[in-house]
Amino acid sequence: TAEDGSQAWLRYAPVPQASSYQSLPSSIVALNSTRSSPVYTAGQELQRGVKGILGKQLSVNSTGKSESTIVVGTLNAYQEVFGNLDDADDLEEDGFYLSIEDSKVLIIGQNERGALYGAFEYLSRIAQEMFETGSSISNPHAPIRWTNEWDNMDGSIERGFAGPSIFLKNGYVTDNITRVTEYARLLASIRINGIIVNNVNANATLLSSRNIEGLGRLADAMRPYGIQLGISLNFASPHDFGGLDTFDPLDPEVDAWWANITNKIYSRVPDMAGYLVKANSEGQPGPLTYNRTLADGANMFAKAVEPHGGIVMFRAFVYDNHISYSNWTADRANAAVDFFNGLDGKFDENVVVQIKYGPIDFQVREPPSPLFSALRNTSVAIELQVTQEYLGQQCHLVYLAPLWKEIFEFDLRADSRPSKVKEIFSGERFRRPLGGSAAVVNVGTNTTWLGSHLAMSNLYAYGIMAWDPSIEPEAVLQNWIRLTFGFDRQVMDTITDMSMKSWPAYENYTGNLGIQTLTDILYTHYGPNPASQDNNGWGQWTRADQFSIGMDRTVKNGTGNAGQYPPEIARTFENIDTTPDNLLLWFHHVPYTQPLKSGKTVIQHFYDAHYEGAATAQSFVKQWDSLEGQIDAERFKEIQFRQVYQAGHALVWRDFINEFYRNLSSIPDEAKRVGHH
Ligand code: GCU
Repeated sequence: TAEDGSQAWLRYAPVPQASSYQSLPSSIVALNSTRSSPVYTAGQELQRGVKGILGKQLSVNSTGKSESTIVVGTLNAYQEVFGNLDDADDLEEDGFYLSIEDSKVLIIGQNERGALYGAFEYLSRIAQEMFETGSSISNPHAPIRWTNEWDNMDGSIERGFAGPSIFLKNGYVTDNITRVTEYARLLASIRINGIIVNNVNANATLLSSRNIEGLGRLADAMRPYGIQLGISLNFASPHDFGGLDTFDPLDPEVDAWWANITNKIYSRVPDMAGYLVKANSEGQPGPLTYNRTLADGANMFAKAVEPHGGIVMFRAFVYDNHISYSNWTADRANAAVDFFNGLDGKFDENVVVQIKYGPIDFQVREPPSPLFSALRNTSVAIELQVTQEYLGQQCHLVYLAPLWKEIFEFDLRADSRPSKVKEIFSGERFRRPLGGSAAVVNVGTNTTWLGSHLAMSNLYAYGIMAWDPSIEPEAVLQNWIRLTFGFDRQVMDTITDMSMKSWPAYENYTGNLGIQTLTDILYTHYGPNPASQDNNGWGQWTRADQFSIGMDRTVKNGTGNAGQYPPEIARTFENIDTTPDNLLLWFHHVPYTQPLKSGKTVIQHFYDAHYEGAATAQSFVKQWDSLEGQIDAERFKEIQFRQVYQAGHALVWRDFINEFYRNLSSIPDEAKRVGHH
């Protein structure tokens, strides 16, 4: 069969050992036969999956006995029919109980969505020949597990690398919802429960009557998969679209306008998740236009959605993109904490502040945003990117789960107590009712969803780790490999090895030691362009001159950013000796001859790391080529094309960056490679 990638990890390919799964259930009982119910979906999915994986056609019924059956439903529905199930007492919202006992399989959700997650979990296990019996409960780490899609009304996608939008076209919500349904299915299988369908740089025409009807159709397509729709708003909509002469959040007319449009949307989409808002950032309008606070702005939306049970994701990505390069203490990394200063506790209960993982912008290496430890009385979520905006735009293999894992496990030591980032965004550390994660995914109409088969490990890992961030990135990856490519040992070992080396390699041949990605930051965010970082108002500065390089973010001599972290962490970053090498240039401005902990100088490390990273990218081609014949020809060729490209582009990166800094510093490469072509 042709493998175009559209089924991703839900291929339900026959497993070699199907016959060792002895006593197969003979039917499926799905305890809800309403078509829009995720339990109904679970029944259909189980039927499709068991047929594909084990080759047996099972009937799906809405009633029946529990012997020799796969029963799927909510805990309430189960107990009504079959009596108590004490084992499932510890279920939390969206969680599921899964019990496999020979031919009797119980899949019980705390709610309907949980039941569907349990069904996908069962299918994932049998698809990987994990036939073990036993029972377990799985609950989510956090209630919010969303994707953000940066889709524009005309169907283009900001920072999307897989073709036009599956949601929007020519100014309207698309008529064809086939791909939306398929995407909802993919996301449900990794336990995502919300999709924001339009760009954070939002266009108010999404609020027209025709488009609200369209949003209704999108929500109808997602509902059977337990996924709620949400939308991004343009703060100036009452003015730009509604015809009011103001969008001041404290003006009662503006409030009434938002309440009215919100009611209109909820009458078509009664279960809408809520709103996502980018305000006063990169030229977008916001409450600061009227000298109101960010909390005033967020709370205006919070009040509009509150009667409907909706939430507001208010982005912390607020900064001034015209800061002065000549000011040594100016620092974009300070913006989030500065802009939210004094607002902690002033947000309504249904507001969640959505914080990018690092203080700048999805760079190859950043410390966690200090805002995670500054907001104690405000719910927060972490924002990640599956779309590889600064990280190779899906033309480079970069498995991102290890990057996310480092951020999740980073202990911010708030009040000198354990305060891992993952415990903060779950709501646990500061006892917040809401929390979770959002990833910018930007899938497109390309059959591979992201434009690259191998990039799909990032989407898979995002969902799995949003549910359980304690999982090891390599384990998640290997499940994904088995589900995507089958059981061949060499395929498993090779893709594992390439993927696990890919982020370190990319960091090595782009920007290392915490200097940021060194890509073009003005337009494309692609390819090497270290000069574009400096001498402009964007604040992604390296402050490289002929003698020295790095941002001095110390309190004693720099921007003071180190001091935004809790004291134990602030001390670590303030002091050059305790700052890890991989963040040295993020926090310190040093001569090129500064010795690292490895004993090398900064400049020699640049040269060596760029050679090493590019060499690793070359080795990926040989590794991939060794799999010819082990993988279907279509996917083999498409991936091979990208690996050859990455290998070439890694050389461009290596030579461009190394020559740039050799020219600037006039310091030769000890190994005499740089400048000796
Ligand atoms: C980055 C990105 C923009 C995006 C912005 C955001 O700067 O390049 O395209 O709009 O982040 O997250 O709002």
